Amino acid sequence: MIDYLSKFKLDGKIAFVVGGLGLIGREVSIAYATAGAKTIVLDVNTDQGELFEKTMKKKGYPFFYKHFDCSDMDSLDENFLKLLKEFSSPNIFINCSYPRTEDWVSASFEDISLKSFQKNVDIHMNSFAWSARLAAEAMRGANQGGSIIQLGSTYGVVGQDLTIYENTDMHENMAYAVIKGGITNLTRQMASYYGKYDIRVNTLCPGGLEGPVAGKSNAQSKAFVKQYSNRTPLKRLGWAEEVASSALFLASDAASYITGATIMVDGGWTAV
Ligand SMILES: NC(=O)c1ccc[n+]([C@@H]2O[C@H](COP(=O)([O-])OP(=O)(O)OC[C@H]3O[C@@H](n4cnc5c(N)ncnc54)[C@H](O)[C@@H]3O)[C@@H](O)[C@H]2O)c1
Repeated sequence: MIDYLSKFKLDGKIAFVVGGLGLIGREVSIAYATAGAKTIVLDVNTDQGELFEKTMKKKGYPFFYKHFDCSDMDSLDENFLKLLKEFSSPNIFINCSYPRTEDWVSASFEDISLKSFQKNVDIHMNSFAWSARLAAEAMRGANQGGSIIQLGSTYGVVGQDLTIYENTDMHENMAYAVIKGGITNLTRQMASYYGKYDIRVNTLCPGGLEGPVAGKSNAQSKAFVKQYSNRTPLKRLGWAEEVASSALFLASDAASYITGATIMVDGGWTAV
């Protein structure tokens, strides 16, 4: 009989988690480490990263933090090579980062500037694309297969429903649609090319999650939460741990025949 539960374990695997200090990335890092993977958090906040490493190591997990700026495009190849030298090629590569400019919340069609649009596409979409390519090439070179997971969004698949922003100070975001749409289709193209090397590439698309407003530190307004929940079949926002559970599944051998997929973790948002 097949031991189905063991398929979800990550023992002996190496996982790189870009943006592993964020709302989603932190839960993903915990999920991977507790499932048995040697987990390397790659992010840009050294104080928080070192604290996270210490806390997880104390609990007995092989857990590391490394400063890694995936938007530093000029040094990306060189910095990734350093990681490979230190940890060897990952079996799992997930990008949960959320690079954005300071004026990110002013990216509505009426307010966005060309400069800001171009910058955000570069630091977010282009950095996701190039980092994923570097990971895939490392996996190919190591001849060990692998799983690459890109964080997309419902808004890389459908347009934004503007009614949920009524009576709030939130707006639609032009750049986000381009960025997440681009990431989602690159995933399909990578799945097409790297499938023969047993490298699986998938996009994980959360809907709105409970947490701070993206680009701000303040909480989501009551009006937004109510309107978002009403519009969603499961009648609530999602939780980061629900995205992490799906990230664990996609990383594991339980998902061995899934590649090129766009996995929605959105409470049914895109179903209606
Ligand atoms: N939170 C949501 O509701 C939601 C919904 C749909 C999709 N997403 C997507 O999921 C991903 C994670 O979102 P989140 O809410 O956890 O974001 P977050 O802002 O909480 O965390 C992002 C993390 O990325 C790190 N980061 C930023 N720039 C970086 C860089 N250049 N290099 C490396 N690390 C960098 C930050 O330090 C932070 O730890 C994003 O790509 C986002 O678009 C989030």
